[in-house]
Amino acid sequence: MGNPIKSKRILLGITGSIACYKAADLASKLSQMGALVDTLLTQSAQQFITPLTMQSVTGRKAYTDADLWGQEGHVLHIGLAYNADLLVIAPATANTLAKMAQGLADNLLSVTALAARCPLVVAPAMDGGMYSHPATQANLDTLRKRSVTIVGPVEGHLASGQSGVGRMVEPYELLGHIRLVLAREGPLKKRKIVVTAGGTLEPIDPVRVISNRSSGKQGFALAQAALDLGAEVDLIAGPVQLETPVGARRINVNTAEEMLSAVREATRQADALLMAAAVADFKPIQVSEQKIKKESGPPRVELEPTPDILTEIAEQKSISGYPKVTVGFAAESQKLIVNAGVKLTSKKLDLIVANDITREDAGFAAETNLVSLLTAQGDVENLPLMSKYEVAEVVLERVRALLQDKGE
Ligand code: CTP
Repeated sequence: MGNPIKSKRILLGITGSIACYKAADLASKLSQMGALVDTLLTQSAQQFITPLTMQSVTGRKAYTDADLWGQEGHVLHIGLAYNADLLVIAPATANTLAKMAQGLADNLLSVTALAARCPLVVAPAMDGGMYSHPATQANLDTLRKRSVTIVGPVEGHLASGQSGVGRMVEPYELLGHIRLVLAREGPLKKRKIVVTAGGTLEPIDPVRVISNRSSGKQGFALAQAALDLGAEVDLIAGPVQLETPVGARRINVNTAEEMLSAVREATRQADALLMAAAVADFKPIQVSEQKIKKESGPPRVELEPTPDILTEIAEQKSISGYPKVTVGFAAESQKLIVNAGVKLTSKKLDLIVANDITREDAGFAAETNLVSLLTAQGDVENLPLMSKYEVAEVVLERVRALLQDKGE
């Protein structure tokens, strides 16, 4: 498995825009994720950035028009185009987009684009007026109809000093779209996966809440890993400040009850539910409408149980058959396997991911996690210390196998 970018041959075309500096960042990120990135700079791109910059971040040759007229020129563009898994043009100027829409081929990048049969992602960058011009819009429509993925541009400060729509998207966002395109044919293609993440908030009064320390990181890593395998992902998130993985449909909730209704709605036809959220078990019986004042002394906050979402979903599944696979998470501070096993059975799960929250390198805020996987068949697998993304990959591989076992 691994992220869908790993070992992929990506051609990065760079055209003349002030946003060229973002191309260096993008190429660096892609290379760090294991892609083999070959860059092609147009004449005007070289006014903003040099082949040396690109070569330095990718560790591979950066091509220019001089190569088109070199000894190997007649086969270079064909070789680059045929061997590529993906062609990305970022930044893409109005001129290059127009050439592509018309099939013009007058420099190394445009001949390569015409010869390429791999998916194509473009990130336009230009002044607001050039972007909104009917000619540019018509060219973009033509490209869209040919299944080109167009990312951005976004609104913001432009090189002209004015503000408008024309800014190239930020590299991390483009990276998310590149992941999505490369994951399209992944093993979870056409699967709908629902992930919950983060803690919940149970209000005491308009200011105070009962919450927990969940960071949401494991849930967000699960959502990213599912997207990386080609799944369609609903991410139901408690109040956490994490960037939504590109392609996930995020549904924000606060309380356990809100999370329950969002999960019901999302799992009606879902293949799997991955319940990574740390749901509050209790909530105040009375929520004070006014802020509780200090003068009234320490308040007595009486609690009542919240609904157990997994138990409710088990009932839904017994009636409708959805979600087809249910995965729970158990945060334990003692008797890890025994306690997780009890939850696996009582919540009628296919799989439970148990983690020991007393360790510093595992659990809530950590970047890594140390988990054991328990299956409904009674298997226990202790995984080594891994990043939360790696844990997510293992869990999703299990989910894929469970769906397959169910004859799906
Ligand atoms: N869970 C749930 N609804 C709740 C509480 C928990 O669906 N109201 C889910 C969690 O998302 C997790 C699993 O149940 O996938 C186990 O959560 P955990 O907090 O470890 O266990 P609890 O059932 O809450 O039991 P305890 O807190 O006593 O350990």
